[in-house]
Amino acid sequence: MATLKDTLAKQIPAVRQRTKDLTKQHGNRIIDQVTLEQIYGGMRGIHCLVCDTSSVPPEKGLIVRGKPIADLADRSPEEVYWLLLAGSLPDADSLKSLQGELSARGKVPDYVWAILDAMPADSHPMCMFSTLLLAMQRESDFHKRYEQGLKKDDFWDATLEDALNLVARAPAIAAGIYRKRFNKGPRIPGNPSLSWGANYAHMLGIADSSGEFAKLMNLFLVLHCDHENGNVSAMTSTVVNSALSDLYYSVSAGMNGLAGPLHGLANQECLAWILEAMKKFGGVPTKDQAHKHASETLATGKLPGYGHGVLRVIDPRFTCFYNFGKKHCPEDPVFKTVAVFFDVIPDIMKQIQKIKDPWPNVDASSGSLLYHYGLTEPLYYTVIFGVSRTLGLTAQAVWNRALGLPIIRPKSVTADWLATVAPEKPQAANRESARL
Ligand code: MLT
Repeated sequence: MATLKDTLAKQIPAVRQRTKDLTKQHGNRIIDQVTLEQIYGGMRGIHCLVCDTSSVPPEKGLIVRGKPIADLADRSPEEVYWLLLAGSLPDADSLKSLQGELSARGKVPDYVWAILDAMPADSHPMCMFSTLLLAMQRESDFHKRYEQGLKKDDFWDATLEDALNLVARAPAIAAGIYRKRFNKGPRIPGNPSLSWGANYAHMLGIADSSGEFAKLMNLFLVLHCDHENGNVSAMTSTVVNSALSDLYYSVSAGMNGLAGPLHGLANQECLAWILEAMKKFGGVPTKDQAHKHASETLATGKLPGYGHGVLRVIDPRFTCFYNFGKKHCPEDPVFKTVAVFFDVIPDIMKQIQKIKDPWPNVDASSGSLLYHYGLTEPLYYTVIFGVSRTLGLTAQAVWNRALGLPIIRPKSVTADWLATVAPEKPQAANRESARL
């Protein structure tokens, strides 16, 4: 039976060689150009990062190692983790070996719970999650071995150890936060016979006689696993990791980015907006009411759950959740409200010229389903996103270490420099033609 480590060890030399060859043969090739507008505009669209675990073509949405995310909706998060790392889905034995590893590494050190107990009761669950992941830094294999002179060629091996430990413990920590933060009673011990996702659902303690909540959690954990490297949490985590800070530092840093309302916290905000509309209209709004309410929100700000920095189509992750809702809870009033807004919002947004993406993203539908199954604390939703994203952040880091990528250190410029240089530089060529 091949372990994940054996599988990666076999692949790494060839991928290292390919990277070496590419840089040697095409190191001077111009891949993109940068406009002044992009420098001030969040570096939007600049091709300047490498990420093999997944890609997000604007017209397709998330592709994990060549597989559209919708094709992975029925897979387990462990299968997807193997895919992210090894580039193909595991066979039954390999999956079993990964599940066994995660189950064996799942024990959370006691001091983590003591830190949770010491935190203010009203801390945001994401602050709790990031803090507890960071608190485990003393466990880092990479850190210990680095201090003892770990060779660069073996950085990935120690990073994989940290990755497996961190991923294995994230669900218990996240579930412990849920129980404590929302006064749900004592922590529920994990059940080692359950899969990673099912065990997380079990430790949350949501009543689930039909098993549908566990199914939803499985889907949630698959859909949020990774979204290339340009999003705030992945890029932050990569930058921190590039300083050879270990995964406890870098994943925690990524979670701090995920906690922002423009990134992962959006799912919390989306559901709050849906519930607010239901309160206003005394239940599911009519199409006309929904149209008016959405137009009013848009006139004063952003519509939660609509638009995306990269996507120019309906986020396929939204569609997967939407299909799940249509199948399992089509009559749920919160889900129905999501559906009514989906009917009207894209057309409203299409009328506004500066809006490039009028379509729903993953956050537009996910919360309504969690709510339906009794996870009614939107404040917690980003933590589930975070547990899932530990898969992508750690997989990306393992490969970055395997390829020996250097510290990330781009160059900043001053506004005075831009004001002097910009008028002297020739007009940038049409950016669309520069797209890869
Ligand atoms: C994500 O899943 O990370 C979000 O959709 C944000 C992004 O890709 O920018």
